[in-house]
Amino acid sequence: KPVAIGIHDLALATSQHSLSLTDLADHYGIDPAKFSVGIGQDVMSVLAGDEDIVTMAADATARILERNGTDGIRTLLFATESGIDQSKSAGVYVHKLVGLPATVRVVELKQACYSATAALQFAVGLIARDPSQKVLVVASDVARYDLGSSGESTQGAAAAAMLVQADPAILEVENAAGVFTDDVMDFWRPNYRSTALVDGKGSIKAYLNAIGGAWEDYRAQGGAAFEDFAAICYHQPFTKMATKAHRHLAVLAGGNPTPAEVAADLDETMRYNRLIGNSYTASVYVALASLLEHHDGDLTGARIGLASYGSGSVAEFFGGVVQPGYRERLRGAEHAAMIERRTPLDHTAYEVLHKTTLPEDGREYRTARETTAPFRFAGMQAHQRLYETA
Ligand code: CAA
Repeated sequence: KPVAIGIHDLALATSQHSLSLTDLADHYGIDPAKFSVGIGQDVMSVLAGDEDIVTMAADATARILERNGTDGIRTLLFATESGIDQSKSAGVYVHKLVGLPATVRVVELKQACYSATAALQFAVGLIARDPSQKVLVVASDVARYDLGSSGESTQGAAAAAMLVQADPAILEVENAAGVFTDDVMDFWRPNYRSTALVDGKGSIKAYLNAIGGAWEDYRAQGGAAFEDFAAICYHQPFTKMATKAHRHLAVLAGGNPTPAEVAADLDETMRYNRLIGNSYTASVYVALASLLEHHDGDLTGARIGLASYGSGSVAEFFGGVVQPGYRERLRGAEHAAMIERRTPLDHTAYEVLHKTTLPEDGREYRTARETTAPFRFAGMQAHQRLYETA
């Protein structure tokens, strides 16, 4: 009998600071409803100068290990599109910070916002070969665009760490998966830039086209019908994008939902993302946590769709079945507190942080202590990044 494999635990982490999109709108003298209604975002997470993708990832991973221990973990897959080194996996720093044993392989995966889904599928494959093994899938990203660019309101930062194993407590990942790849230049970040470049309108079209393609492939692979899903979690560069995608799939499936019906379908999947902003690879798993942690009723046995998109582009659609007892594993209070405890920045402080980039000549550099998270980025020495436990 094939063994059930999927997500056994899911922990999120985000930044020390936040910026209200009302303050951003005020700064540019535009109607705040453009962001709250037009884009569907209220607040964005902003990293402190001593935080990065490694510190957020280590924070989320440490909480997974606190609860589950390290027994059986043989692999850590680190998904990101805001990598800190061209060669070394950010996951190796996390491996040390959280005290994983040497007998864990670590690798970083990249394909824009999609790679955490690839990591999850690869994890399922490893566990199918040996169900005694467990895999950590860690997605961590900071979304940064130029000040004054159209993408600025869609910044954000978060990490999602998942323990993937046999007999999972939260979500069994089903076998059917639909995929779609297309070489497009909708969003990219050349090696010499710290902020992304984007063809905003083109990226929306590319996202819809790719999600539609993945959905049709999913159906061709024998996947479930649209009406068989209790909910669908989409990649959310901004929450309005998820509503566009949901309507697109509903129409492909022969429906014609009103904007209010679409918003009601997705509301629970969008609560965290509205307050965090884009978290690239983590975003669709932030949406999954948001759904499970905000849904009042019992979702046991329900089929949840996951629609993952990474610019450039690759999309994947797959389903999962919510497991009995899942509610005891959720971290709703922990995640609400994490979002709540961020310090709101005024616009001037945000702009200063945005403009602060690391010296590129490798000279010694120390960050000021700002974060209250368990791990911090301490600076650079001899071209090496320094991390410490706070
Ligand atoms: N009240 C209510 N709504 C308003 C409004 C107001 N006062 N003013 C404008 N709006 C609405 C507009 O009608 C529009 O809605 P629709 O899209 O439903 O028509 C929406 O607000 C946005 O307005 P604009 O199109 O004028 O906004 P913009 O040109 O400034 O930028 C954007 C929008 C292109 C998404 C920009 O934020 C951007 O470039 N973001 C980064 C790229 C991105 O996230 N792309 C998503 C797909 S790619 C992807 O998913 C990968 C990834 O993570 C990046």
